[in-house]
Amino acid sequence: MGDCAMRTLEVQDLKRLAQRRVPRMFFDYIDSGSWTESTYRANAGDLDAIQFRQRVGKQISNRSLATEMVGQPVSMPLALAPTGIAGMQWPDGEICAARAAENAGVPFTLSTMSICSIEDVAAAVKKPFWFQLYMMRDRGFVASLLERAKEAGCSALMVTMDLQVAGQRHKDLRNGLTTPPTLGWRTFMQLASRPGWCLRMLGTRRHTFGNLSGYAPGADNLTEMTGWVAKQFDLDFSWNDIEWIRSRWNGKLILKGIMEPEDARLAFASGADAIVVSNHGGGS
Ligand SMILES: Cc1cc2nc3c(=O)[nH]c(=O)nc-3n(C[C@H](O)[C@H](O)[C@H](O)COP(=O)(O)O)c2cc1C
Repeated sequence: MGDCAMRTLEVQDLKRLAQRRVPRMFFDYIDSGSWTESTYRANAGDLDAIQFRQRVGKQISNRSLATEMVGQPVSMPLALAPTGIAGMQWPDGEICAARAAENAGVPFTLSTMSICSIEDVAAAVKKPFWFQLYMMRDRGFVASLLERAKEAGCSALMVTMDLQVAGQRHKDLRNGLTTPPTLGWRTFMQLASRPGWCLRMLGTRRHTFGNLSGYAPGADNLTEMTGWVAKQFDLDFSWNDIEWIRSRWNGKLILKGIMEPEDARLAFASGADAIVVSNHGGGS
C-alpha cells in the first residue's frame, strides 16, 4: 500500500489532510453548520445511531451493491451531493470529483454554485452527471441553466428547496467568507499560510462561479457576482415553480431538502421522480 493510501484509511484522515492543505475559510466552510450548529451535530449523531441488522447463513460470494437510482444503473446506492465552490478546495475540484464518481460508478451532482461550469464538467467525463438547481428570481437565468444542463446531457435535475434564506454561519463570518467576501489582513494570512494551495490554484483559470460567468454582472469580479447571487434567492419559490420547472425539464427530476411527509406527497404530485431527505447538513 502506498504511503498516501496508508495515511488515508478513513474519512477522519482525509479531513486532517484537508485541514493541513486548504486555507481555513474554505476548510471551515465544509466543516461547519449554521447558527449554533446544533442541527449539524444532530445529523452526525443520527447517522451514527443507524445500525445494520446482522443476518447470517447467507451465501455472499456473489454479493453486490449494484442497483438503480432514478432508473440509472449505479455500482452502489450512493450519489455525490452538490457542493458549492468545490473548486476552491482544490483546483478544478468539481472536475476531479466528477471523474472520481465516474470511476466509482456513482452519480455526481454539479452545484449551480460550482467553480467549474456545466460545460467544463461535461467535457471532462464520458457518463452523464446530475445538475443541481437553485431557484433564482431571474427566471430567464434559470431557463438558460436548464437548457445548458440539457445540452450537456445531464441525466437528472436536482432542485434544492431548502435554501431560500441562508442561516447565519458564524465561522464563515469570522473567516471573511461572506457575500461579498471580506478581503482583509486576516483573509490574506489564511491564504499565505497555505502556499501549496496558492501555487496549485495558480495552475487553473477557474476561480469564480463557472455557471454564472457571462450572465451575472461582473463575471470576473467575485464581489459583484456574489452580490448578484445574494439577491437572487427567491423567497416566493413555491410548488407552482416546480411545475414550471417540470414543464421545461423532460428528464428525471429530484427534489432536495424534503423533510416532512406532506412535502414528500406534494413533491410527487408536482411531478418529481425522487426526493432527497435532507436538511442541507444543518448548514443552511
Ligand atoms: C461545502 C458544502 C457545500 C454545499 N453546497 C451545496 C449546494 O451548492 N447545493 C446544494 O443543494 N447543497 C449543498 N450542500 C449541501 C449538501 O448537498 C448536502 O445536503 C449536505 O452535505 C448534507 O448531506 P445530506 O443531504 O446527505 O444529509 C453543501 C454542503 C457542503 C458541506
